[in-house]
Amino acid sequence: MDKETIYILAIESSCDDTSAAVLRNNKVISNIVATQQIHEEYGGIVPELASRAHQQNIVPVVHQALLKANIDKKQLSAIAFTRGPGLMGSLLVGTSFAKSLALGLNIPLIEVNHMQAHILAHFIHEENNPKPKFPFLAMTISGGHTQIVKVDSHFTMEILGETLDDAVGEAFDKSGKLLGLPYPGGPLVDKYAQLGDSHKFVFPKPKVKDLNFSFSGLKTSILYFVQRETQKNPNFVEENLNDICASIQYTIINILMDKLKKAVKQTGINQVAIGGGVSANSGIRSALKNAEKNYGWSTYIPKFEYCTDNAAMIGIVGYYKFKSGIFASQEITAKARYII
Ligand code: KG4
Ligand code: ZN
Repeated sequence: MDKETIYILAIESSCDDTSAAVLRNNKVISNIVATQQIHEEYGGIVPELASRAHQQNIVPVVHQALLKANIDKKQLSAIAFTRGPGLMGSLLVGTSFAKSLALGLNIPLIEVNHMQAHILAHFIHEENNPKPKFPFLAMTISGGHTQIVKVDSHFTMEILGETLDDAVGEAFDKSGKLLGLPYPGGPLVDKYAQLGDSHKFVFPKPKVKDLNFSFSGLKTSILYFVQRETQKNPNFVEENLNDICASIQYTIINILMDKLKKAVKQTGINQVAIGGGVSANSGIRSALKNAEKNYGWSTYIPKFEYCTDNAAMIGIVGYYKFKSGIFASQEITAKARYII
């Protein structure tokens, strides 16, 4: 190992995925994610079950990440872990594990903000994947988050807007649930939406000031719509599934794009990067492509495995913090609410 090489072992356990990754400088050499299936039966994440599953998964996941990276624990330069935001019981598992391992190996510990990691995931080195240039706008859209952030440097970020209630992924998942689709409904709503007419049904868009979002009203209007129509025709949902999904997706993507356009106008920054699980959505992807053509934006979407919750994104923050000498002490604790 030459002296310049930095090896970071990263651990992510903020929600329902247990993940460990090894980075050699800014390149990912392993990224293992154990997704917890148990929550499917409940139609949403059950925090107590999530922390128990993290307990079971963490040792094998870290072991696999080291094995796949083909490096020994003794070669590690530092351990990076998600401090928050997230579910307290879940965060505690990763935090305690990272602290003990760093102590045992006598190497530095690096605490990472999960939201910052979703944004810096754009800087994971990948061939033919251009990185955004500072300053840029980052929109993080997932089952747990909906934020627009102005990013001035790796460590200087300002939240311009965020959801006041549900996250956009939740809006997709809850819509799916109302239509009788299994959890998580997002990918299925997307799949059916691609076969349907997005103008068949009209759902109201919320009137939220500034760059904030709200999705709870949409959920209620879909609920009343489904109740009203199934009273008239019990087979309404199955007969119109594609068109309902297309119309819901069209509304959600419009809400996101309206705010992004507003943020671009307000800041004069037209470099737009998205991340989080909802970045997989075909509607947002084509809306961004159109914005490149129509408004001259430059848009960035990381590889899908770095969009959903993963430890590689924690590792890239670890890499930048290591280079800047920003380390955490053994007194550090998990933080369920942790603002960028
Ligand atoms: O980032 P992620 O894996 O986990 C967190 O929530 O942090 O995001 C998962 C969310 C779920 O709500 C899921 O339904 C949504 O991302 N999702 C999608 C699509 N793929 C995943 N939503 C809409 N369209 C998709 N193709
Ligand atoms: Zn996340």
